[in-house]
Amino acid sequence: MIDNNEIRTALEAVIDPELHRSIVELDMVRSIDAGANGVVDVTVSLTTPGCPIKGHFQSAVAEAVSGVGGVTHVNVYFDVLDDAQKAALQQKLGRASLPAGALAQVANVLCIGSGKGGVGKSTLTANLAAALMGEGKRVGVLDADVWGYSIPRMYGLGSTRPPVSPQRKIIPLVAHGVKVMSIGFFVEEDAAVVWRGPMLHKALTQFLQDVEWGALDYLLVDLPPGTGDVSMTLAQLLPQAQFLIVTTPQQTAQKVARRAAQMAHKVSLEIGGVIENMSSFTTPSGERFAIFGEGGGGELAEELDVPLLGRVPLTMPLRAQSDDGVPLVIEDPDDPAAQAIHQIARGLIAMSPAQLAELPLVEAAAAAAPDPTGGPKPVGMSLPMA
Ligand SMILES: Nc1ncnc2c1ncn2[C@@H]1O[C@H](COP(=O)(O)OP(=O)(O)O)[C@@H](O)[C@H]1O
Ligand SMILES: [Mg+2]
Repeated sequence: MIDNNEIRTALEAVIDPELHRSIVELDMVRSIDAGANGVVDVTVSLTTPGCPIKGHFQSAVAEAVSGVGGVTHVNVYFDVLDDAQKAALQQKLGRASLPAGALAQVANVLCIGSGKGGVGKSTLTANLAAALMGEGKRVGVLDADVWGYSIPRMYGLGSTRPPVSPQRKIIPLVAHGVKVMSIGFFVEEDAAVVWRGPMLHKALTQFLQDVEWGALDYLLVDLPPGTGDVSMTLAQLLPQAQFLIVTTPQQTAQKVARRAAQMAHKVSLEIGGVIENMSSFTTPSGERFAIFGEGGGGELAEELDVPLLGRVPLTMPLRAQSDDGVPLVIEDPDDPAAQAIHQIARGLIAMSPAQLAELPLVEAAAAAAPDPTGGPKPVGMSLPMA
């Protein structure tokens, strides 16, 4: 009698050429039926009915299974993953859609998002990164707002092109001790970026896999407003990321921010907490004005059952320093907004799941795994690189 487990083990040798993983690991083996006469029927689930790699599976499965003792003939059948199975596969692939080892040395990924623009995502990203650095952490910032990139300006970086290493990796620029990557480095100043769909996906993937981020305690990702393509793509590429939601105190902003939270839930991203920005304004004489209302951040946090990480007041220097290219937390750590941001940074450190020293072993192994393609691939299909 042929043992199904033996067949399953043999099938581990069948690798999906696109996903680079075994069909067993990918849960694509739907059924195995071994008859008494040595005839084995194997059904493989495909992602689409017209899957161009059907032929590959046909022969690879037959070859793998016919090597098992007692097998006289192999029939390979196909069916198609249903939506739930596809979602499960996506989930499983999340990180795998980046090659093994990409970001292996990045302990924490924090995506800073909101439902709408102008609430201070980029300002907070730039300053939080600097504050984390001030706490002795190694920090990178990925400006994923491809249409409205503003991180280069906030760090005083022009449109300098980042250098490319001999291994064909893009080296992030460093400003104020923070590694920075932005599409703004690659396009003419003020040029409109008109990327959509697949190109966008490719560019973001490159920013994660072809950029030499090196060892980082934190990679902060400044998201574009809304719940569109970029956020979804990043959520898929970075299933380990935590999502931080920025909102102003007012009800309407809170409502929009809630949509960002729903998106995060949909793609199974963990929400790390809410940051309320533009909380209030205090005049030099000490009078306090709740310009954008009050309480929105706290309410949203409560509703989502996540911590309110902090409330950052409106201050003129926070705006001015952003425009001058030096994060306020560096320039004037005593400013009330800078203090609030520092407080948030310390809170983030306290709640961070991993610091580099305790990275799970699998990831270290992935980093050490030999490149199956036999060497670094040239990059720059979509980024206009040198
Ligand atoms: N707490 C704050 N106090 C003063 N100005 C702020 C504050 N937060 C953000 N700003 C200013 O508001 C504007 C929008 O902020 P930005 O970070 O670009 O928002 P987003 O990235 O969400 O679109 C910028 O001019 C920024 O300097
Ligand atoms: Mg922004």
